[in-house]
Amino acid sequence: MMFSKRIACIGAGYVGGPTMAVIAMKCPQYKVTVVDISEARIKAWQTDNLPIFEPGLLDVVKAARGRNLFFSTDIDAAIRESEVIFVSVNTPTKTFGEGAGKAADLQYWEKVAREIVRESRSPKIVVEKSTLPVKTAQTMENILNANDRKIHFEVISNPEFLAEGTAVQDLLEPDRVLIGSHETESGLRARQEIVDIYAKWVPRDRILTSNVWSAELSKLVANAFLAQRISSINSISALCEKTDANILEVARAVGMDSRIGNRFLNASVGFGGSCFKKDILNLVYICESYGLHEVAQYWESVLEMNEFQETRFVRAMIREMFNTIVGKRIALFGFAFKANTSDTRESPAIYIAKKLSREQARVVISDPKALDNARIDLAELEGITYQEDPYQAAVGAHAVAIMTEWDLYRTLEWEKIFDVMEKPAFLFDGRNIVDHERLFKIGFNVYPLGRPPLKHF
Ligand code: UDX
Ligand code: UDX
Repeated sequence: MMFSKRIACIGAGYVGGPTMAVIAMKCPQYKVTVVDISEARIKAWQTDNLPIFEPGLLDVVKAARGRNLFFSTDIDAAIRESEVIFVSVNTPTKTFGEGAGKAADLQYWEKVAREIVRESRSPKIVVEKSTLPVKTAQTMENILNANDRKIHFEVISNPEFLAEGTAVQDLLEPDRVLIGSHETESGLRARQEIVDIYAKWVPRDRILTSNVWSAELSKLVANAFLAQRISSINSISALCEKTDANILEVARAVGMDSRIGNRFLNASVGFGGSCFKKDILNLVYICESYGLHEVAQYWESVLEMNEFQETRFVRAMIREMFNTIVGKRIALFGFAFKANTSDTRESPAIYIAKKLSREQARVVISDPKALDNARIDLAELEGITYQEDPYQAAVGAHAVAIMTEWDLYRTLEWEKIFDVMEKPAFLFDGRNIVDHERLFKIGFNVYPLGRPPLKHF
């Protein structure tokens, strides 16, 4: 079969995999090859047991795999044959040297850029899919275009806004697709090529174009605003607990103001995920490096509030369980950073589990999808047990703490759970997803977020 365009994607992770699967499904005329240094990941993409759990993803992959969607570890070959190369390798926060704990670690990105230069024999469009600090495109362009063969590389910034758990839906019907390019002749041509890909299924008025730096910055800012909303509502949840106000009622009243909007106002034990913290740290680092210390501090406080929310959740558990949890069995319901994903990166449950374990509680982790990742995250801790079935996890437990808003927890037979627990039985709802009055009637001492507890003593 003759393809009209060859697209490669380096990095077969949470972003690269689903994005390319949707492009391939929607554009049968393009050959899409997803490559990765991890043989295990690539192998998994070739089976029906995909390396990431994402609702609806397997159907999309199956629709295109072997037709125009391919997974491979031959990165060099994919670079050579493709006109467009998406780069979606991870960009973790630096753990060493200058900017440690804040700046992005760009070593994988630079390595990939050098690989692209080495293998290319013809001009390419290189698309930044990974979230990167502002002006990374420029740096990459400098590396790419410093080649002896005089091959021209055009760098495009096309940040991905998909959220995990709804990745397929977000890709099929995005609020917007953002494509940043240089406003030169070759930049505008490259921009149009990328617009043409998305225009195969995304309405044209949802495809925004901008300069490269605006696109890069918009991604960081969008995530910072979303995280800020959660920190805002979480800060008010702490106040509600002191004042007899109910955070659900406050969020409803506030969210009905159409200027504010009602989404993303769920108080929680804290936000997690690979992006929010990392992107805010990046923003903070950039602001600091331009001497904008007040701006940096403003955004840093969003992270501080998140840590405060996690800390006060654990403190309340210890305080309410008579100031000691030594030897007590505590079941964490949910470990993923949000529902409908197996991803546990930066999950508040990691922090909570570690803290409880240090207090010498006997922690048992339950989650329908994330136990494999939980075992890796908590490998350093002794005495943690893992139990997929929440009913089993609750046997002999003094407390259950809900960490993830899995639907499954809404519909559990809580009477059955209460029966097998130690008494008094405690329920700490870190997501406000169960019917607190009903659980109180069953006999639980219930601790919602953002409203006073329902206690039997
Ligand atoms: C994404 C974005 O790309 C990142 O910028 C964002 O901040 C977090 O989300 P994600 O897809 O979630 O990353 O990361 P991950 O699932 O870790 O996937 C990255 C993949 O790149 C991994 O499979 C890794 O093996 C691969 N990789 C990394 C390479 O193929 N080559 C490298 O040199 C480094
Ligand atoms: C986020 C952005 O939404 C997405 O656009 C970007 O591309 C990547 O980062 P993601 O991290 O997958 O996506 O999940 P998101 O749904 O944004 O949730 C992030 C965290 O906030 C989760 O821990 C979630 O549980 C928490 N959250 C979300 C709340 O605590 N309350 C809310 O009201 C919403």
